[in-house]
This record gives sequence, structure tokens and C-alpha cells, in this order.
Amino acid sequence: MKAIDKKWWHNAVVYQIYPRSFMDANGDGVGDLAGIISKLDYLQQLGINLIWLSPVYKSPMDDNGYDISDYDDIAAEFGTMAEMEQLITEAKARNIYILMDLVVNHTSDEHPWFLEAKKGKDNPYREFYIWRKPAPDGGPPNDYRSHFGGSGWAYDEASGEYYLHQFSVRQPDLNWENPRVQEEIHAMMNRWLDKGIGGFRMDVIDLIGKEVDRQIMANGKHLHVLLRQMNAATFGPRDSLTVGEAWSATPEDALLYSDPERQELSMVFQFEHIKQTWDEKAGKWRSRPFDLPRFKAVIDKWQTALADRGWNSLFWSNHDLPRAVSKFGNDGEFREVSAKMLATALHCLRGTPYIYQGEEIGMTNVRYSTIEEYRDIESLNFYRELIAGGLTHDEMMTGIYANGRDNARTPMQWDDSPNSGFTTGMPWLGVNPNYRDINVAQALAEPDSILWHYQKLVALRKQHPILVYGDYQMLFAEHPEIFAWVRRYEGDTLLVVNNFFGNHITLPVPEAMQAWHGECLISNYAPRDQLAVSLELQPYESFALL
Ligand code: NOJ
Repeated sequence: MKAIDKKWWHNAVVYQIYPRSFMDANGDGVGDLAGIISKLDYLQQLGINLIWLSPVYKSPMDDNGYDISDYDDIAAEFGTMAEMEQLITEAKARNIYILMDLVVNHTSDEHPWFLEAKKGKDNPYREFYIWRKPAPDGGPPNDYRSHFGGSGWAYDEASGEYYLHQFSVRQPDLNWENPRVQEEIHAMMNRWLDKGIGGFRMDVIDLIGKEVDRQIMANGKHLHVLLRQMNAATFGPRDSLTVGEAWSATPEDALLYSDPERQELSMVFQFEHIKQTWDEKAGKWRSRPFDLPRFKAVIDKWQTALADRGWNSLFWSNHDLPRAVSKFGNDGEFREVSAKMLATALHCLRGTPYIYQGEEIGMTNVRYSTIEEYRDIESLNFYRELIAGGLTHDEMMTGIYANGRDNARTPMQWDDSPNSGFTTGMPWLGVNPNYRDINVAQALAEPDSILWHYQKLVALRKQHPILVYGDYQMLFAEHPEIFAWVRRYEGDTLLVVNNFFGNHITLPVPEAMQAWHGECLISNYAPRDQLAVSLELQPYESFALL
């Protein structure tokens, strides 16, 4: 392995907060900044170093804040700019940096730029967005579909033109070919960096270089030029952490984004491992069973491709995905051990781990009984569209249960008081009824909880550079139930073994174990203390041996 340039964030762990669902301090049913501030001690105790804060900017909340109407203001339901600054300061006092969620592929339709743009073709802000004339039949310029269902073009009566929206009609796409857009966004980013944040998580960043007339949305030809310009004009000189969301990224793309010599981003979120359980054609609304060999092959590919250059992000879940333990583990009988196993696997790979709020206590998917209980615009739009297209109500409810975004957005489960201690009011989205058994208070009190397992893993990454810089090599590649690997660094060897299912498994002792110092860094059963003739694994057992 090539010696890599060490960065301050290499051994860091990031914790994602979805503010709406984290902690409500004022009792209006919606989480807020004051609520987050009140939980900073909890996060410090967990040991995390950065908080990725999903958007808190001013917004009409058509897509829960991913539709920004003022980048320099805070949504009233979340608090004030003074509270935002207080959060940055108080987090920093606990050695925690804030990563702002940068949503610059689109704005809200209530952003002043768009309100101006709609005033007419001569308005100086018209070219901030993407307008096209109707097709000869008067319909949309082409058949491009929005990610949230329906056409990706919306008609503007006043001008007789269509504007592009890759997400909801209320999220018009910015025109990144316009240098004025670039300047305005760079200036806004610098205003945030000046407040002392640690960097940005960049929403659908692979879409900003779009070539609309060729219907190329992701990975357009200017994408990497735009990112290098952004780097130089904003976060590059400040050594920030930047992570770009890039659903389209292949390992080759990831190298373009994250090779430090290219000066673009620190790393990207890729989603290939996530999509393993989606149906090839119907996508996330019709899932297929978890197939560990496919999953391993994907992770192995990414670990290997970014071994010498670039950097991986590691995550099982976020605010757009189902709960990790429900998707890749077992949210029934084996919830505790399987959640710990997933945590061990995540923290022992090479890259930067991201923990999604609630994952550290093993929160699960939620099963609402009616469509009316869901809030997510994506699930609701597709429910209408796919039911009209012939899917049954039950099929759609099953799809939403498996992969819908509200699974991750149910309120954080703090304790067993009404509404899980999240709010004294009426929560904006129903609390998962299992909060009486699964909550932070209980996890803090139980020395063997999933929470303390996470805390231990986060600390281990600081103590053992092999977890951060060790190279990676998969073992038992063909095994259908085991995901195991070795890491090597400065003469040390780390063996990581994870049983992804509920069966008892016997494995031959891997050769790497012959070099074992005898230290069991972490285990979700009794720690291993001696070399046996064979490795007997319990359901969902996992351990890391140094
Ligand atoms: C990705 C975000 O994670 C998601 O929540 C949002 O709906 C879309 N980008 C559009 O901004």
C-alpha cells in the first residue's frame, strides 16, 4: 500500500442527525436546534467527531428541508441563526464539528432566485434555472422522469416554458453552467465556513454537471471541473471534510472525486451495496432478499479499488434508507447481536464510518397500517403513481415498509415516556411503538447494550491505526453467511469475522490467526481468548482479533 497523506478526519466517526426527528425542545412535535444542543453531551459520550446535520435552512419543507428557500437563514421550526451558531460553538467545545448539508443541485421554488426567474425571460435570474420550450405537441421537452415520480419538467404558465426539476416540482434545478450561480453558491459556502463548520455533506452532487439536452443528468462532462473550482474557491484551503452523495458513482468515479491530488472532495457516498436488495427493474419498491455474497463482492470491490488512492465512506443507513438492522441484520429475536455485528463490520472496514441517528440503539423499521400515516413525499408520490399503474395497495405498503424513507425518520427513541421522550407535543411522524423496549435511557443503563458497543468501536478507531490505515483483504470469499477480512499495518494483523445470519457456523482457522497477539478488540459474545482447532460461530457473532 502506498503511504497516504494523513488527514485529521481519517480516524473520525461521523454521526448523522435528521433534525426534524432528533429532539424537540419546544414541544411543537418537530425536532429543533435547541433539542440537538441538549443532546451534545450524549454525542460526546458516544465519541463521535462530526455531526452531519441534514438541512435546517429556511424552507417550505416540501422535501423536509432539501428544498431551501434561504441558504443564510434557519427554518423557524428548527430555531434561529443564533442557535445555529451556538450549536457550532458548543459542539466544538466537545471536539465535534458540524457538517452542513449542502443542497445545491436545486433550490426551493420559494427561493428569491426562482421567484425572480419566474418573472420573465428577461429577468437577470432567469438563467439561474433550466428552462426549455414545450415539445411540438405542447408537452414537456422530453420524457425525462423525476426521481420522485412523474415528469421531470413542470410548466410555467406565465412564460409558456418548462423548468427542470429532478426531484419534486417544488425543487427546480439550478443551472450550474451559469457562472453567476457558481459565484453565488461559492460565496454562500464561504459564509458557512467562516462560522467554523467542519465541512459539507453534498446532496446529489453528481447531478450538478448535467447535460440536459443529452438527457445526461449524473456525471455530466463538467462535473469534475465544477468540483475543482468549488474546492479552490471554498473548502480546499480550509482542509474541511467533504462527502458527496453520488448514486451514480462507480469505483473509477470515486477515484476522480476523492484522489487528494485532484483536489475535489474527501470522499463520496456510493450506494451499490444498498441497491443489492432492490429489484433490478422495479427498484426499491419491490425488494429482493439480502444476498450476502453479492453484498460482499460489492464492498470488496470498493475496498480494493480505493486502497491506494481516494477514500471510502462507510454506512449502512441514512435518512433516505431503511433501518440498518431491519435491512441487513435481524430486527426480531437477534436484534441486539445482529446490530452489534453490523456495527463491528462497519467500523472495521477501511474508510470513514457514518452512524445514522438511532442506529446506535438498534432502531428498526416502522410498520404503519395506513398510507395516511406516512409523510414522505417520495413514498406518497410513488404510492399514487404505482397504484395507478396496477400495483396493489398491499404490494406498495410492503415496498414502503421495506425501503421507504420514513423508516429512518421516525422520532429518536430517548426513553420510555410518552412519544419516546422526543416531544411533549404531537410528533410530526408517528413514533415507532417499540420505543418502550428500544431507547437511549435503557441502552445507557445496560452495560452490554448496542450503544456501548458502538462507543467502544468509535474509541478503538482512535487507539488502533490498523483500523484506519491497515490494508484490507477478504477471506472466505465464497462463504454464503460469513463476511471476514484481514487488515495489515506495520507488522500487525487484524482479523475481522462477521456471521451475517442466525446459524451456527464452523470455519477452519484462517491462516492470519496464527499471528494473533491474543487481543480480542471487540466481540458481541464472550471475548475469544484462545486459538481453537476450528472457529465455531454463534448466530450473528462477530469479533475483531489483533
Ligand atoms: C438526497 C437527499 O438525501 C434526499 O433526502 C433528498 O430528497 C434528495 N437528495 C433531493 O434533495
